[in-house]
Amino acid sequence: MSSYKIVITGGAGFIGSHIAENLAKEGHEIVIVDNLDPYYSVDLKKKNLDIVLKSGDATFINADITDLARMKEIIDSTVEYVYHEAAQAGVRISVEDPFKPNDVNVLGTLNILKASLDADVKKVINASSSSVYGKVKYLPFDEQHPTEPVSPYGVSKLAAEHYCRVFYEVYGLPTTSLRYFTVYGPRMRPDLAISIFTRKMLANEPITVFGDGEQTRDFTYIEDVVEANKRLLYNKVTDGKVLNIGGGNRIRVNDLIGNLRSLTGSTSEVINAGKQKGDTEDTLADVDLGNGLIGYEPLFNINKGLNKFVEWFKIEGDILGFNKQVDVTPSSSQKSMA
Ligand SMILES: NC(=O)c1ccc[n+]([C@@H]2O[C@H](COP(=O)([O-])OP(=O)(O)OC[C@H]3O[C@@H](n4cnc5c(N)ncnc54)[C@H](O)[C@@H]3O)[C@@H](O)[C@H]2O)c1
Repeated sequence: MSSYKIVITGGAGFIGSHIAENLAKEGHEIVIVDNLDPYYSVDLKKKNLDIVLKSGDATFINADITDLARMKEIIDSTVEYVYHEAAQAGVRISVEDPFKPNDVNVLGTLNILKASLDADVKKVINASSSSVYGKVKYLPFDEQHPTEPVSPYGVSKLAAEHYCRVFYEVYGLPTTSLRYFTVYGPRMRPDLAISIFTRKMLANEPITVFGDGEQTRDFTYIEDVVEANKRLLYNKVTDGKVLNIGGGNRIRVNDLIGNLRSLTGSTSEVINAGKQKGDTEDTLADVDLGNGLIGYEPLFNINKGLNKFVEWFKIEGDILGFNKQVDVTPSSSQKSMA
């Protein structure tokens, strides 16, 4: 297999660092672009980077994707592929401040596309989100399902997707957007529900569930997400398209808590609080398109994935400091599903 020079934006974060680590181990030359945004612990991001930089030919550039001139310097004609994972993630923070997600996710993506077009890269692979669907008309969500986001974050990811499509259709830059459905696994963002619940349940602290816990989510294990991304390097059939990357199953939040309780032996009390603005009611991915085009098949059901995650959290999560995180969302002890 060929080896490529690949820029990975957001490579100090959760998903970007896994893609970077995996591709570096396969012998590709990796350039991580990340501004180490303090949305959550910068220390965790530096530890992610340490892991990636030790895994092969990988370098780190501290830069902001909203700076077009800087992106054009970094994405030069030697770069062959760009994985664009940098974003202001998080539904709830976008409800409190819609401007930052717009700047980073819309303008930032436009900058990455323009720099990539000028440098004649082979393809930009864009991290999108199930949040673009928003209001549920039917389940599972196939890629044709109407997109009516219910949060500023969802709007920003949808705008970024459209820019990717238009850069393909108008300028001929190959792009693919992957709509990730709530991703979990080792090194996951500490503001996401599975991370918060696991951390608190291992400490037997109370956990807060927003709504009645009957809402459902399709959770995707990080290894399935990395595999989907890797498959895009070696084919052109997804150029200009969006694909769902989900687990293909959904679970009620109450059942998720039950599973975590049996894995952790926790006695944590569950506190139900009001439903949060911006949260989607239910998600479930139809992954048939990805299966047909790139052979995408999620290999981790929720039980297998949670088991692996909790084992990691108890040992390596402890060493890396994931168990010591404080809540990062604006109002404390909130969970975010996106
Ligand atoms: N984790 C999920 O469940 C999930 C679900 C759907 C979509 N996504 C998308 O996947 C991508 C990765 O998400 P993640 O969970 O790994 O998030 P993350 O926050 O762990 O990673 C994002 C990285 O981007 C960096 N970043 C933020 N602003 C930047 C800027 N202006 N310039 C350069 N770097 C910047 C951050 O420092 C961080 O390291 C994002 O695009 C996110 O919207 C994630």
